[in-house]
Amino acid sequence: MSESIVKLVNVNKSFKTGEQVQHVLKDINLEIHKGEIALIYGPSGSGKTTLLNQIGALDKPDSGEIYINGEPMMHKKEKELTKFRAKFVGWVFQFYNLIPSLTAMENVALALELSGDRKDMEQRSREMLKLVGLEDHADKFPSQLSGGQQQRVALARALVKRPPLVLGDEITGNLDSKTGKEVVESLKKLNEELNTTFLLISHDPSLEKYADHIFELKDGRIVDKEG
Ligand SMILES: Nc1ncnc2c1ncn2[C@@H]1O[C@H](COP(=O)(O)OP(=O)(O)OP(=O)(O)O)[C@@H](O)[C@H]1O
Ligand SMILES: [Mg+2]
Repeated sequence: MSESIVKLVNVNKSFKTGEQVQHVLKDINLEIHKGEIALIYGPSGSGKTTLLNQIGALDKPDSGEIYINGEPMMHKKEKELTKFRAKFVGWVFQFYNLIPSLTAMENVALALELSGDRKDMEQRSREMLKLVGLEDHADKFPSQLSGGQQQRVALARALVKRPPLVLGDEITGNLDSKTGKEVVESLKKLNEELNTTFLLISHDPSLEKYADHIFELKDGRIVDKEG
């Protein structure tokens, strides 16, 4: 079995709202291996986004440890976490969040520009758009693209910096089954060609056949379904 890229050990997270404390993640143990597509299912409110936010270091657990590439993250300083987020993790969301006044190519290139990585920006962005099958649409604006095409631009944007790990929150949630399939097929291709690890959370059962490993989040606990 390949090396682990993400490992959670006894991770707990609660939210306090006024007097109420809600224990959302309960003793989560989870391991994702390099190069796999992992899928986490769970009903609305089961804690999926909360879990993804802990893994992507947008938020910190109350207890437990998260290892990324074998390195413990819990005691890292904010500066190190910022570096980790910029270099290591790409994100794709349900709503594509593309900038309407920029073309597909420019939306992808913006990810490079914002990180100060400006070398061959346009060429690298076009190459990434080609990998998601949009080489002929690179100069279109988001409003001139279908939902599935916009989500593929968002995938190209998440991957153009070649992060080893991409986190996806309901990436097909806003698409019909046909366009959703196009997006996941692009994702599978990126996984195979770039060896990117994907951790996807979703309600969508049609993602199952693309996943190497399926987990279920139930009442704040992980149930390993397949692997
Ligand atoms: N910042 C917060 N403050 C207080 N409660 C929160 C916060 N974030 C999430 N919660 C609560 O934690 C629970 C899990 O939320 P989360 O967003 O992780 O669910 P989810 O599984 O992603 O749901 P969905 O499928 O609807 O997106 C919910 O009951 C939510 O109200
Ligand atoms: Mg969510």
